[in-house]
Amino acid sequence: KPVSPSAIVIFGANGDLTKRKLLPALYRLAYERRLPAGFAIVGISRTEMTDDQFREKMRESVEHFLEDSPFDADLWANFAKGLFYVSGDLADAAMYTALDARLKEIEVSRQTGGNVLFYLSTQPSYYSTAAAGLGAAGLQNPSTPGAWRRIIVEKPFGHDTASAAELNTNLQAVFPENAIYRIDHYLGKETVQNILAFRFGNGIFEPLWNRRYVNHVQITAAEAIGVEGRGAYYQEAGALRDMIQNHLLQVMATISMEPPASYEPNAVRDERAKLLRSIRTLKPEEVATHAVKGQYGPAKIGGADVPGFRQEQGVDPEAQTDTFAAITATVENWRWAGVPFYIRTGKRLPKRVTDIAIQFNQAPLSIFEGETGQQWPNLLVVRIQPEEGISLRFFSKLPGAGMKLRPVTMDFNYGTSFGTRTPTAYETLLLDALEGDATLYTRLDMVEASWNVVQPILNVWNETKFEFPNYAAGTWGPAAADEMLAARGHVWRVP
Ligand code: BG6
Repeated sequence: KPVSPSAIVIFGANGDLTKRKLLPALYRLAYERRLPAGFAIVGISRTEMTDDQFREKMRESVEHFLEDSPFDADLWANFAKGLFYVSGDLADAAMYTALDARLKEIEVSRQTGGNVLFYLSTQPSYYSTAAAGLGAAGLQNPSTPGAWRRIIVEKPFGHDTASAAELNTNLQAVFPENAIYRIDHYLGKETVQNILAFRFGNGIFEPLWNRRYVNHVQITAAEAIGVEGRGAYYQEAGALRDMIQNHLLQVMATISMEPPASYEPNAVRDERAKLLRSIRTLKPEEVATHAVKGQYGPAKIGGADVPGFRQEQGVDPEAQTDTFAAITATVENWRWAGVPFYIRTGKRLPKRVTDIAIQFNQAPLSIFEGETGQQWPNLLVVRIQPEEGISLRFFSKLPGAGMKLRPVTMDFNYGTSFGTRTPTAYETLLLDALEGDATLYTRLDMVEASWNVVQPILNVWNETKFEFPNYAAGTWGPAAADEMLAARGHVWRVP
């Protein structure tokens, strides 16, 4: 689809996401000539700055955070002409009047056609204020005939089921649902998108993709870093909200949903939503056996002292925050009944790795003597990051006399197969929103369904006092996570 001329208005232009992800992604799109000729970016935050100061600040960020692309000074000079800045308080009507005036000027000077994509990337507590401000100023309605207005809402979408519903009401009071783009950057990752290609572009995997052949699924999203200066946010959020409620349940839905009838936004989203709604809601008394809460303590890693979570800056020394969370989810449908989906995530784990492991059942009968090594040979691993690929493990005959088996691995690797750079999730998703394609964005019913999965766990956790820390920084989380699988006859694999 062609990208129409447009302006992006970023609320929270002084924030971390703008510097680390949004501006580098937009610059990179410009570098690849993917942005339309008529294009502008308007940054908004409280800090007083001129357009030029904002441009300079963004140049520093882009140069610093562009991960794998060259910084081209000439291209930047041209790109920066389309950067503008409006300072103001989001609760102040005057700010929206100023923004409106600025957008009208830019529509003429930059030929943006009156199309505007608003991007909410402030502190989440301001999302509703910003939506109301836009509404009161009438900014959701373009004055140019045929122009569009859309809004991207960054995560977290609510702090719990009730606040998510409230935020939604506030957004829908201003924007129609088809103009609201709730972002979950995991859905924009190439490797996550490829799950659909792998499952529904091939005929050989889908017949195995069910309870008859799949024993269980493990989804791991491990990070080696700690909270990196985000202690204050993270302390309130915790791993279950920060990663599982959104990213990992979306990944789970992608791996387990039914085939959509077409690759149309709502056909795909309907299936994701249906799957999320089929995840069984835990009863309070089941939480202890289906969810594990962990928090890291201090450790020495590679000779260096690493502080525990409670020693991080801005963190309450008695914080009950989960820096590790693991859950056992089950899907109540014909395809998956009885198959556990284990999901775990955490900070300060041994390494950064995100992958999905599908463990298939063993052969129904073992005819070979001396099968050693691996008890469960057939494992399909979808590697999301940092390495990107898919591998399949199976038994093979060990060369030599006799019939001894050993597991071997067949491997697909993105880098070697395609040899091209993978766009970042934010490049993909920003372009999609400019094109009006919401396939990779979450819909209200998906957000609600995933809050329904985690809310019963949060309710019990809120009423329980945990003895923390319960894992040392640099390890794979608390013993209880192993016990949760052991109780079902399984073990976590080491990714
Ligand atoms: C964010 C979380 O949504 O995702 C962070 O708030 C986390 O805590 C990040 O580090 C992980 O994203 P990625 O793309 O680096 O895996």
